Amino acid sequence: MPAVSSPSLLFTPMQLRGLSIRNRVVVSPMCQYASEEGGPTDYHLVHLGKFAMGGAGIVFTEETAVEARGRKSHHCAGIYDDAHVPAYRRINEFIRSQGAVPAIQIGHGGRKGSGTAPWEGYRPLGDEDAKRGVPPWRTVSASAVPADPRAPAPHALTAGEIAGVVTSWRTAAARALEAGYDVIEIHAAHGYLLHQFLSPLANRRDDAYGGSLEGRMRLVLEIVEAVRAVWPPEHPVFMRVSAVDGSENAWSMEDTVLLARAAKERGVDVVTTSSGGIAGPGTAAPVPRTPGYHVPYAAKVRRDAGIATIAVGLITEPRHAEDILRRGEADLVALARELLWNPNWPAHAARELGVTGYLDLLPHGYAWWLKRREDAREAIRAAAARK
Ligand SMILES: Cc1cc2nc3c(=O)[nH]c(=O)nc-3n(C[C@H](O)[C@H](O)[C@H](O)COP(=O)(O)O)c2cc1C
Repeated sequence: MPAVSSPSLLFTPMQLRGLSIRNRVVVSPMCQYASEEGGPTDYHLVHLGKFAMGGAGIVFTEETAVEARGRKSHHCAGIYDDAHVPAYRRINEFIRSQGAVPAIQIGHGGRKGSGTAPWEGYRPLGDEDAKRGVPPWRTVSASAVPADPRAPAPHALTAGEIAGVVTSWRTAAARALEAGYDVIEIHAAHGYLLHQFLSPLANRRDDAYGGSLEGRMRLVLEIVEAVRAVWPPEHPVFMRVSAVDGSENAWSMEDTVLLARAAKERGVDVVTTSSGGIAGPGTAAPVPRTPGYHVPYAAKVRRDAGIATIAVGLITEPRHAEDILRRGEADLVALARELLWNPNWPAHAARELGVTGYLDLLPHGYAWWLKRREDAREAIRAAAARK
């Protein structure tokens, strides 16, 4: 692929450990509820492949469960079985062939498992669902406190069972490596299992995995160490956090900075700052939804924990993304919904930011034709100007 020359920071290549990334546009992980028995299908090849063809630097596979019971629904992605590996590998080979870096977010829904898709109301599965072949399952969490008043209480993991969960994360990371991923992200945000241990709103334990901040952070840090142990030193590890729970006596920004520092000491390279989710559905955030609503969190973690960050949340304008990087608020910018709307956003953004050869972010077989189209349009413009 020809080199893209850039006056823009967004399109300046980046080095993370031994990994070269062509630009700083990240496709944020997006659950599709389209997996079969946890494994990806051709849908995922096209869904993720088109972002790689559109010029993004890093393409994240959606939250992928490390255990079958860690899925949010029967249709969520997983990497809890060796049989999943070949299909992910096929997708990753394609992503890499298009010049992008394949990345995976591994996670565990904990008490937010056994539910339906967003468009079915995030409803907990029940007896009626069992009759239509979609049975509920017993979820697990830090404590027997349901996420949703409609849901049965989750099983509070024993210390011995927690050790098994850590092993699941390590094994999933080893499978991800086998599947050809270059980046792995530990999902500790959005009210899922790791967030359930971090937040005092969900963690009522009085053993080594609860109580003090140190106790509540223990599981996440054990998982960071377990994942780092199998992830090669030349490959980066990311972690996504909800920077704040958004209520009194809950997970706070100060806690996030301490967690980021501790994670960095154990080999995490990049932190994505999101918010919310411990109470209410999905990514329900306590933060008003304005363009770049999580940027101040990314900036604070970057400054106070001395770690690279990703800004995410309603970043849709190229100049806005560029300015976030130029102001030193984050090192990378992630987009989710804007890329669903326009998977070629990186190429469009590069043009808007004055990047020479922006069409070379697209496949050669597109760029060749589009350059000729651009020349023709330029000639028409020049002729009109002469009149
Ligand atoms: C369809 C969809 C699925 C999502 N799935 C995930 C996910 O698997 N993991 C995650 O951390 N965030 C997930 N998110 C949140 C996004 O990654 C992102 O943080 C959020 O949408 C804000 O970015 P945006 O304004 O660019 O969409 C999802 C968002 C959408 C729209």
